[in-house]
Amino acid sequence: MASQILQSAPAEPAPGRHEQGPEEAARRDAEGQAYFDKVMAEDSRIEPRDWMPPAYRKTLLRQISQHAHSEIIGMQPEANWISRAPSLKRKAILMAKVQDEAGHGLYLYSAAETLGQPRDQMMADLIAGKARYSSIFNYPARTWADMGAIGWLVDGAAICNQVPLCRASYGPYGRAMVRICKEESFHQRQGFEILLELARGTAEQKQMAQDAVNRWYAPALMMFGPPDDDSPNSKQSMAWNIKRFGNDELRSRFVGMMVEQVKVLGLTLPDKDIRFNEDTRKWEHGPLDWDEFKDVLAGRGPCNAQRLERRREAHDDGAWVREAAAAYADKQRARQAAQQAEEIAA
Ligand code: 3HC
Repeated sequence: MASQILQSAPAEPAPGRHEQGPEEAARRDAEGQAYFDKVMAEDSRIEPRDWMPPAYRKTLLRQISQHAHSEIIGMQPEANWISRAPSLKRKAILMAKVQDEAGHGLYLYSAAETLGQPRDQMMADLIAGKARYSSIFNYPARTWADMGAIGWLVDGAAICNQVPLCRASYGPYGRAMVRICKEESFHQRQGFEILLELARGTAEQKQMAQDAVNRWYAPALMMFGPPDDDSPNSKQSMAWNIKRFGNDELRSRFVGMMVEQVKVLGLTLPDKDIRFNEDTRKWEHGPLDWDEFKDVLAGRGPCNAQRLERRREAHDDGAWVREAAAAYADKQRARQAAQQAEEIAA
């Protein structure tokens, strides 16, 4: 009954607090569930200390950690081109973009940590090859034009997928997505601008831009995930107001955006089946190779092994930074404790 539903969030028990027995635990879960259902019905937000169903927590952790890993692994194809950027200006822009991706990873790992998963554990899962990250980053960046195609198509797909996530029901995730999406917009524009310049350049440059678009188009469409009929998580994630739209709906919107923008570039999308269906009012595209998608997810994409190897190396290379940061934090804690002891004694 509405009158019995709590108006404020029942908190998770504080760490170390002892349960008062099964009846108390059951009462707390029932109150928590009622509050959670009310939040969902009102399309409001769950915050880290609120009670939440274990399956909701697990789904969020799965999606947010995968998303964080995607941002971090996604630095690699572009970082590879920083030293080969064609001008100082292009190098500075590309460096800023790659650093933004690192920042996105950090916001998202922080959001995932609020659900109780330590960052070390997430990183250990990634480098052990146990965690997923976006399929798109297992494809190679072969030419400078790929920097344009990645920015325009990959970051474009990311925006299309992620703007609705700004309204995700879990507060820390939704808030992180607001800033991420703003930065992704800049990324997409810089990619578009690289392609535009190449497309207006020599015949060879235009061909290089077209070749990059040809190679990144289908993998970018697959970023949205499997077709709805093969998407085991979508329905529940939408019921929990985490995802707002199904994979196919977002993919169709993306095709509609790209079909207009490619005209400005003077290039073409490698898909003769694109059309606007007047009956469904949706954009349709040609068939995608879902066997290739499954292969990439199973670790058999063109660059899976290389991406994980590079991440492991970076993790090992960064060990001294983590040790130094931990030693500094210990020193600060010891100083504060000594200062407090002095104040109490005085
Ligand atoms: N790459 C890798 N795995 C994918 C995938 C993709 N493109 N699409 C789906 N999957 C995986 C899912 O993670 C799920 O695996 P799991 O059950 O083992 O976790 C399985 O395939 C089935 O897919 P579902 O559609 O049921 O999964 P979801 O409901 O979680 O939808 C998603 C998948 C659309 C990717 C969703 O998780 C999502 O929106 N995530 C947040 C956005 C995100 O992670 N984007 C990464 C893109 S890259 C990026 O943002 C970096 C930027 O700089 C470009």
